[in-house]
Amino acid sequence: MSSYRKTATLTRSTPNLIPVIYDEVAVSSDEDWGTNANWHEVNVYNAVQHIIARASNRVFVGQELCRNEEMLKVAQRWSVLFPISGMILRQIPELLRPLVAPLITSPNHWYARRFIKYLKPEILRRQSATAADSKEKPNDFMQWTIDAAERSDLEAERSPRIIALRILATIFGTIHTSTFITSNIVLDLASCDPENLSEIRQEIRDALVNNDNKWDKSLVQRLVKLDSSMRESARLRTFTLTNVLRRVVNPKGLVTPDGAKLPYGALIGLPTMGIHNDEDIYKDAANEKPTGKSGSNNAGGRSFVSVSPKYHPFGLGRHACPGRFFASAELRLLLAYLVLNYDIEHQPERVAPQYVGTVLLPPSKATVRVRRIAK
Ligand code: HEM
Repeated sequence: MSSYRKTATLTRSTPNLIPVIYDEVAVSSDEDWGTNANWHEVNVYNAVQHIIARASNRVFVGQELCRNEEMLKVAQRWSVLFPISGMILRQIPELLRPLVAPLITSPNHWYARRFIKYLKPEILRRQSATAADSKEKPNDFMQWTIDAAERSDLEAERSPRIIALRILATIFGTIHTSTFITSNIVLDLASCDPENLSEIRQEIRDALVNNDNKWDKSLVQRLVKLDSSMRESARLRTFTLTNVLRRVVNPKGLVTPDGAKLPYGALIGLPTMGIHNDEDIYKDAANEKPTGKSGSNNAGGRSFVSVSPKYHPFGLGRHACPGRFFASAELRLLLAYLVLNYDIEHQPERVAPQYVGTVLLPPSKATVRVRRIAK
């Protein structure tokens, strides 16, 4: 089963998984942001990365493994090293790559082996579960991968190693992207007009009252001001300056409608940052207008996940991110929990993001002062 199809299963299952994601968000946020009612400082990036790793892995591998801090660390190290070794290898002439690749990628293999070791016993346990146990089957990404492997004609698909590596690849594709976006949203909320933050908090309180205090799909759908602020933050701080990257696969090349000739193999993309900051598309484009009020850049009510030629943090077209619906629910739950339970001290200046090549990263050392709101 392709990662695209498993992500489709994830999208279909997201409404049912909301209480589970919320549970992990709550437990992990209490650890990472603390329960102290006095003002204290938290590193935004580290805390957000940890909460997202926990909540996402709760859905990927279940409660017990998602709370295994060593396993989380191993997956995180692999996810950092994987693109770095790719970047290094691309600088080396193609002919020499097979010779140096084993050396350059050896730390990746070491971390991957350790990751497999953590997951293997659980994969084997689930694979040996009898049909009678099938009613008790966990509803998570690991189980969907095991079930898809059972249906496959390829014996290799059922190897615990392959199943674990598929999960590791999914973790790689999801944790960083969600962490970048969410860290920026938290910093934007800390530096936005305090009235906006109060409005968002009030919206969450009202939604809970109107939803019998249940954290479920219906609650998540009511958080439109929060969603609007997520969209505005993603518009201004999309982490890839160019997006929707596509390669010309026609051996004869391609001629664009305005006559530009693109040779076979050329890599093309959209200037996302330019489009997201275009004054002809977004009024007062450089300024965030988070709550979706009239006059805001999102007055039309388009959501965080509705991609268009004018908005593409999740790409565009047939290959637009299929995980964005899950990400949207997870991020709403996480942000709603933080806004509802913590005062966030207003920051007059937004800490600037950092450029690394064509990637715009949230400032990894930025902190916010927070205190727990008494219940
Ligand atoms: C806020 C979090 C996320 C962001 C910003 C993000 C962003 C992106 C972007 C920009 C693309 C390329 C789209 C294109 O070229 O048109 C992509 C592709 C993809 N994403 Fe995400 N993503 C996020 C979360 C997730 C999650 C949670 C999953 C799954 C669990 C996921 C699974 C995928 C897959 C499978 C693809 C490849 C789609 C294809 O090639 O057809 N993503 N994502």
